[in-house]
Amino acid sequence: MSVGKVVVVGSVNVDLVVAVERHPAPGQTVLGGDLRRTAGGKGANQAVAAARAGGADTTLVAALGHDTAAELALGSLTGAGVRTDAVQRVDVPTGTALITVSPDGENAIVVAAGANAHVALTATARERLAQADVVLAQLEIPLDVVRAAAAARRPGARFVLNAAPSRPLPDDLWSQVDVLVVNEHEAADLAPGAGGVEVAAARLAERVPTVVVTLGAEGSLVARRGQWPAAVPAPRVRAVDTTGAGDTFCGVLAAGLAAGDDVLDAVRRAGVAGALAVTRAGAQAAVPSAAEVAAGVGAAP
Ligand code: RIB
Repeated sequence: MSVGKVVVVGSVNVDLVVAVERHPAPGQTVLGGDLRRTAGGKGANQAVAAARAGGADTTLVAALGHDTAAELALGSLTGAGVRTDAVQRVDVPTGTALITVSPDGENAIVVAAGANAHVALTATARERLAQADVVLAQLEIPLDVVRAAAAARRPGARFVLNAAPSRPLPDDLWSQVDVLVVNEHEAADLAPGAGGVEVAAARLAERVPTVVVTLGAEGSLVARRGQWPAAVPAPRVRAVDTTGAGDTFCGVLAAGLAAGDDVLDAVRRAGVAGALAVTRAGAQAAVPSAAEVAAGVGAAP
């Protein structure tokens, strides 16, 4: 597989994670296990996945504060081989995510944006965007930056948008998207009243050329304009922690597309990587190696 260039534009967080028997309901207090402080943020997680599991030449465009959380984040990014010279330092604390994880591996997350609200496209960022094969963004940073990053990519480079967390998208952003990646909740938010995930995927594919809907243990759906969605199964695994599994999927998908893979092949590989990620605790800590993904793809039915 040849190596492609991926630029991820997105958030970096320190994840404060507590294991709980059940997630608290509004107004409720629950006791949890020990606090873990780990590297996270959808943008950083996806960059680590593109580099480590996907083998892509990966640059992250992001913003960090001047704090210990920033050092934790940079250590994880550089350890995975992500280029960090387009990561700015700002006088605002690094983003923080408060995460509870229940015994079935499901999580609940609240994010304090912090420095993520101050991401900007530096000259280095623009240079990398102009050389990228794939630009990948999510929605934990200002929409204007996502828009500007899509517009700054070189002609022919693909723009992959992971619309997470979901929010209404302006028309000029819809028109930039080549591949939209959403989970079923985000699909329902963006295609209200669709009445089913396949219909939602097909409806979204009327707005962008390719839509990928991740379905957890059920794999994913790939919808292309004018075609009924195709199901792509994922390997069966025992879930320990689903935090960041969708990010692993997106990073590996972007790396595959940047390397020239067909969408369905890239989605299959991404599904294997995402399934491996849920078997381990943490976000970036759970991203598998490229060798583990290759072995998983070989073993998949
Ligand atoms: O997608 C998982 C990520 O969402 C976590 O790492 C957390 O930081 C939030 O951004």
